[in-house]
Amino acid sequence: MAAKLKAPRGTYDLLPHVADDRMWIVDVARGLFENAGYRRIETPIFEETELFARGVGEATDIVRKEMYTFEDKGGRSLTLRPEGTAPICRAYIEHGMHKEPQPVKWWYEGPMFRYEAPQAGRYRQHYQIGVEAIGAADPALDAELILLQATLNEELGLDVRLSLSSMGDACCRPAYLAELRMFLERYEADFTAEQLARIKSNPLRSFDWKEDYARAATDAAPKLLDRLCAECRAHLDEVRAYLDAAGAEYELDGRLVRGLDYYTRTVFEFASQLLGAQSGIGGGGRYDHLVEELGGPPTPAAGWATGFDRLFLALSKDPAKPRSRQSQLDVYVAVDDPGRSELKLKAFELVRSLRGLGKSAEFDTVGRGLKSQLKQADRSKALFTVCIHAAANGALLGWVRDMASGEQRDDVAIEQLVKEVAEAVDRKKAEEEDIGE
Ligand code: HAM
Repeated sequence: MAAKLKAPRGTYDLLPHVADDRMWIVDVARGLFENAGYRRIETPIFEETELFARGVGEATDIVRKEMYTFEDKGGRSLTLRPEGTAPICRAYIEHGMHKEPQPVKWWYEGPMFRYEAPQAGRYRQHYQIGVEAIGAADPALDAELILLQATLNEELGLDVRLSLSSMGDACCRPAYLAELRMFLERYEADFTAEQLARIKSNPLRSFDWKEDYARAATDAAPKLLDRLCAECRAHLDEVRAYLDAAGAEYELDGRLVRGLDYYTRTVFEFASQLLGAQSGIGGGGRYDHLVEELGGPPTPAAGWATGFDRLFLALSKDPAKPRSRQSQLDVYVAVDDPGRSELKLKAFELVRSLRGLGKSAEFDTVGRGLKSQLKQADRSKALFTVCIHAAANGALLGWVRDMASGEQRDDVAIEQLVKEVAEAVDRKKAEEEDIGE
């Protein structure tokens, strides 16, 4: 036998029961996004490598170590997207969206690719759902975005904590970074050569280091939250005023840094206590210079993304499981003798007619005998089973069984079957809805 192939390391197959849960999450999210004026956008899975190098930042782990970059047959350097914000800004610029009424509000979902060490909640192909609002600097927009993610988490039944901070801007951040660098260099003897290089290139990353000595140094270090200029402070205060008015709970966290370089001012993260090391479920913030850095006009913007994979992990650890849409079959169409082609032909026609009327219908395609077709109807949780058979005089007839009550109508003329069964399904569903109310 040929050697078995497996899904690549850090990836997984989305089997139907999980795919159903995911559709449920996308439905909930889409309802919320569309109510808030966000429209769906899809960008390519791969982009020019330069987009991420410039957009996400040369000094980030994502660009330095985690990108799936390849050369195509035309010699172009392309990269599987590690995140969605830079591609969306590229699309905003490419399609001249700055000429449209601002802000342009978009939502997206799909796979992202990062070459990270796989572990629970961390994959090389992971899935994000996110929103971006491009073209407005108003702190009310930051608050709208944060509350949108809070509502999504709430509707999904997730218990999460919100951390909030500010990354400052070109006015206050450079002086702070110089101060932080100087402070950390006092601990030079403790740090590794790689850490010292990071302190030079991107000292904010030090807040993510897990070693005790690094944590002690960064705990003692000055925080950007205490060094904001008047404008950044006022922006943060306004975001907080909106969140407070909405009754949102959050913690101001001076250690909160995000793994991407484009943020200015507001940054935030939602984390679940049910998850271990990878507790960050979703996060984002403001990125007022990204559009300009990618060649567009100066354009303030903000957004977030949440990871499906971690949403799932958190939901699966929670006793209140997701209410995934159970796929249920309306009608299973059986034949009493699978060897008779005229019966199968009728069954095939009946299935197509029922589907045409919006009912879900299935039939056997692997030559099961009647008994095992009926078993299959049970397994598919069919509301009704229809069985087509031939009477002694050769006329084709059907019986229709309500699978819950066992009630059965015999000898329905073949011409009547579609109408009879479709109406029975409608009645059954109406009854179920009445009970549900
Ligand atoms: P991010 O924090 O890098 O932000 O990713 C967003 C979410 O994607 C994370 O909170 C996490 O749930 C999930 N995630 C990231 N990497 C992995 C992984 N390797 N495996 C599983 N899940 C993962 C961004 O990507 C920004 N583009 C968010 C944003 C949008 N900021 C502004 N607008």
